[in-house]
Amino acid sequence: MIVGIDIGGSTTDAVLLHAGEIVVVTIETGDPIAAAAGALGKLLSTAGGSLTNIRAIAVSGGGARWLKEELFGVPIVKVPEITAIGVGGSTLAEKPSALVVSLGTGTALVSVHGEKIEHVGGTGIGGGTLLGLARHLLGVTRLDTLERMAAHGDLSHVDLTVGDIAGGPVGIVPANATASNFGKVRADPTPADKALALVNMVAEVTLTVSMMAARAQQHHDVVLTGKLTRVQPLRERIEAMRSRRGENFIIPPYAEYATAIGAARTVNAIAP
Ligand SMILES: Nc1ncnc2c1ncn2[C@@H]1O[C@H](COP(=O)(O)OP(=O)(O)OP(=O)(O)O)[C@@H](O)[C@H]1O
Ligand SMILES: [Mg+2]
Repeated sequence: MIVGIDIGGSTTDAVLLHAGEIVVVTIETGDPIAAAAGALGKLLSTAGGSLTNIRAIAVSGGGARWLKEELFGVPIVKVPEITAIGVGGSTLAEKPSALVVSLGTGTALVSVHGEKIEHVGGTGIGGGTLLGLARHLLGVTRLDTLERMAAHGDLSHVDLTVGDIAGGPVGIVPANATASNFGKVRADPTPADKALALVNMVAEVTLTVSMMAARAQQHHDVVLTGKLTRVQPLRERIEAMRSRRGENFIIPPYAEYATAIGAARTVNAIAP
């Protein structure tokens, strides 16, 4: 059996790949070594396996650098995060060529053309931005609270649209497109309005950057991974943008664990 562990900026995921089955667990990343050890323990108690059955532990993510050669006597193989994201996203979506986007604490963009996996860029706007600004703007620390608030928000109290400024569409941009996130400074929005505008801004920035990177890399399929894909209003924004764009946005099964799964699959492919 191969275990994959992704020690990310916010969460540490551990996955077990065995006979076509995928078992996953998540814990918060605190100390990276403790997180890896804890995630492995949780995984084994969930899946009912034992350490002796694990051939190797594939480790990826920003915290991977803190681990040595072994964890509890099991060999560790470090997988570069870009490789893990690319392999995870493209195999889960069953797209050998795609732009894979990791929507985590931050956002990373990875181009996959078969065996060729390239880091094409990223942005600091991501899930961490959502949580950080929720706290600074609204005093909200929980994502589910933010999601509930956003459900009652009205974007027109916070954002300026192209129509607000130009009185109608401009070139290829429709009147209801955002001209300026949080740009409507002469209105008094409610906390719900701000919550929705915040989720919307993170969605618009990450999806627009993804779309442009996809076009630059000649990709039609854009695979979205990472735990930000779990946030309901963000999924709704993706749905709303889908009809307006030529790109095919996909959130595959296990999208939240794509990096850990990609790490495990990379090691499995090297030494099956
Ligand atoms: N249950 C959850 N726990 C933590 N974050 C969540 C959860 N559900 C959604 N999120 C959102 O997802 C983000 C974290 O995503 P993810 O766990 O994929 O990132 P990461 O791998 O830790 O970070 P990175 O890849 O940038 O190092 C959080 O910032 C938050 O906005
Ligand atoms: Mg990650």
